[in-house]
Amino acid sequence: MKMKILMIASECAPFSKVGGLADMVSSLSKQFAESGCEVKVFTPFYSSIKRTAKFKKNLAPLSVHMGLGIEEFAAVWSANLGKAEVLLVEFNRFFDRAGIYNYNGVSFDDNGGRFAFLCRSAMDWCLASGWYPDVVHCHDWPAGLIPVYLNTTLRNSPLGRSASIFTIHNLQHQGIFDRGVLEYAGISMREFRQDSCESMGMLNMLKGGLYNATKITTVSPTYAKEIRTSEYGCGLDGVLRFRAADLIGILNGIDVKEWNPASDKLIPANYDVSSPDGKAVCKAALQERMGLKNDPKIPVFGVVSRLYDQKGLDLLARIAQPLVDNMSIQIAVLGSGEPWLEGAFKSLTAANPGKIGSYIGYDNELSHLIEAGSDFFLMPSRFEPCGLNQMYSMRYGTLPIVRSTGGLADTVSQYVEGTGQGDGFLFDSATCDALYNTIGWACSTWYDRPSDILSLRRNAMNKDFSWEVSAKSYEQVYKWAIESRTAAF
Ligand code: ADP
Ligand code: GLC
Repeated sequence: MKMKILMIASECAPFSKVGGLADMVSSLSKQFAESGCEVKVFTPFYSSIKRTAKFKKNLAPLSVHMGLGIEEFAAVWSANLGKAEVLLVEFNRFFDRAGIYNYNGVSFDDNGGRFAFLCRSAMDWCLASGWYPDVVHCHDWPAGLIPVYLNTTLRNSPLGRSASIFTIHNLQHQGIFDRGVLEYAGISMREFRQDSCESMGMLNMLKGGLYNATKITTVSPTYAKEIRTSEYGCGLDGVLRFRAADLIGILNGIDVKEWNPASDKLIPANYDVSSPDGKAVCKAALQERMGLKNDPKIPVFGVVSRLYDQKGLDLLARIAQPLVDNMSIQIAVLGSGEPWLEGAFKSLTAANPGKIGSYIGYDNELSHLIEAGSDFFLMPSRFEPCGLNQMYSMRYGTLPIVRSTGGLADTVSQYVEGTGQGDGFLFDSATCDALYNTIGWACSTWYDRPSDILSLRRNAMNKDFSWEVSAKSYEQVYKWAIESRTAAF
């Protein structure tokens, strides 16, 4: 079935990216377009996106019907994303500034209005262009008002028949704002109630999306179960239990062309499972780049991450000193986030020349070098809806050391000591002890059972993380949603 699919997202690689959301939206869209569907991704034209000739003006001006009046100064630009099309809405008041959600760690205080505008402008673009999708696929809280529009204000418009899918990439961020944002959005105050958009006296955009979407997905089967519990539900577990019959977990795939050690142009030597020698060249380059002692025998433990509570890297910061004192290992960290954690890694680097290297900031090229040049990759996440880096690592023969949660539990298979089975190392509790012991286990495997390391590497590199399988599951959900929506008319 050749469907018309509209993706709504606040990030889309390579145009804008804070985390894995951008990669997922981009690679899933390309995959569906490749299979013959008509796919458009609607996203903001942030000023950080370089204005080049590849962007064509698509619709200008676009009148956006917000509740407090029409916003007249929007324009929509278009560019190719593989065989998909990306539509970027330009609106200076909201998107002409440094930062996507915040600047220097401080969230913009008009984020509610900014992303309500994103939702409404996407809908108004469809109405103005006469392009009506079968499915509107909404990603995370910035797209949360779309299912609400489709069930209320736009129910009787030509868009009313479009089914909505809401994908939860991260339940922790919910888009909580003053109720005035609902008025700006042009959505009736009748929706400001507990079984729609209201939560504890505030507008909750994510909750609105969850209550109103035709179907809900999240990015791994384990996370789909976890978020129905109070431990992982971030206060919305009740809503998710209520909608459990419409909720399904589908593991993310990865862009296997972009993340391929055999053809990656961002690393100094290419390699694959049958000719792995280039990995040693990448390791030497990484040691050089991160100021680590150049020694192929010492295992390098890599990190590429946002440095926030979710990722559990505070646990690593707390044990890094005893780790490098007691074991012959090196640590290479790339990340940015909480100032105290950035500071902790900077101090650890200064105190341990040759053993710990860090780069605080965002650097795509270095992230590829860390994936390729490290021997192990650390993700001690407290929760991880899917996680992409462990999959990138495995493809590059870098063994993941992960907490057994969410998508990490679904993608990494535990090493069985002495057999060479598995492709990584998992631990259960989010504690310094558990992380320390698991790194110790990996380290002893490196020095004492090198042939096991080689077979774990082979297993990891042979794993299939392409979108083929998961895109089929999304197709099933799209069809299921279209049937339900059609039946409701
Ligand atoms: P999350 O989306 O929760 O941050 P994921 O593992 O799904 O976690 O995706 C993270 C993505 O962001 C990966 O593509 C990773 O390489 C990238 N990334 C995170 N931090 C950095 C950084 N400091 N520099 C470069 N890339 C980064
Ligand atoms: C979120 C999650 C991450 C997931 C990504 C893409 O940012 O934190 O686990 O991989 O979205 O779905």
